[in-house]
Amino acid sequence: MSIIQVKNVSFEYFKGVKVLNNINFTLNKGEVVAIIGQNGSGKTTLVKHFNGLLRPTKGEVLINDEDAVKKTVAQLSHTCGYVFQNPDDQIFNSVVTAEVAFGPSNMGIKSHELKVRVNEALRTVGLYEERDKHPLDLDLNQKKLVAIASIVAMRPELIILDEPTTGQDHAGLLRVEALINELRKNYTVIIISHDMNLVARVASRVVMMCNGEIIFDGSPKEAFTKNALMKKTYLKPPIITELAQSLKGFKRDVLTVDEFMDELKTKLKK
Ligand SMILES: Nc1ncnc2c1ncn2[C@@H]1O[C@H](COP(=O)(O)OP(=O)(O)OP(=O)(O)O)[C@@H](O)[C@H]1O
Ligand SMILES: [Mg+2]
Repeated sequence: MSIIQVKNVSFEYFKGVKVLNNINFTLNKGEVVAIIGQNGSGKTTLVKHFNGLLRPTKGEVLINDEDAVKKTVAQLSHTCGYVFQNPDDQIFNSVVTAEVAFGPSNMGIKSHELKVRVNEALRTVGLYEERDKHPLDLDLNQKKLVAIASIVAMRPELIILDEPTTGQDHAGLLRVEALINELRKNYTVIIISHDMNLVARVASRVVMMCNGEIIFDGSPKEAFTKNALMKKTYLKPPIITELAQSLKGFKRDVLTVDEFMDELKTKLKK
């Protein structure tokens, strides 16, 4: 069952300058899709079409089989929750709980149910202890988590995380990975990321963008073995994949350390 269908979508911020060029893309329920590509390739522009922050110059976006044009951003955000690339673009309340309550309360959720949702979202991202703080007193990692919690509290079908690991230290990275693995149990997830190690570990599907076009859409294993396409994005496959590819006779589609060790053990037995 598809949540999103993007049909022949082109988009221009300025007349005559195409930032998206004839995009076709279907997102199915339960997927964890990673959108990857060079800076400026159109990743953020594409996902902002899913909750109506941007509208196509050409083509159409269907959300649960209905034309997104007919719906407001508020309506679309019930289905597609977009966590901004920069949390400062999203956060505007002066207390963490108020920030997280904003979305669901705008949906008409009140009193006890609102409190339950806010607390649950804060626990999901590991920020319950920080609930009474001013978001501006938090570090970038934590602000990103507040931004995620405020979307989780709305319980949309799809959660879009735009560069969730930028600026995170190693502990932050592990927390985001664990969070994605938690979210995937209940939500369809899109992550936009430059971290191919993370993408290899969490994504069920990879969409590669270049100059406003989708140049690849398939499994992570396939994505990271198509070296010519990867080169076009100026991104490198995960380090462990590169290592395996540099070793003679090794499988080329090794994505994780565990897979590498399995391959190594097989080779040592021979
Ligand atoms: N608000 C805007 N007004 C005009 N042009 C914009 C705007 N936002 C983005 N662009 C341009 O559109 C193109 C695609 O930008 P977009 O932010 O979608 O790329 P991205 O793949 O998300 O990049 P990044 O990895 O840096 O986040 C770029 O050339 C960018 O300069
Ligand atoms: Mg972006």
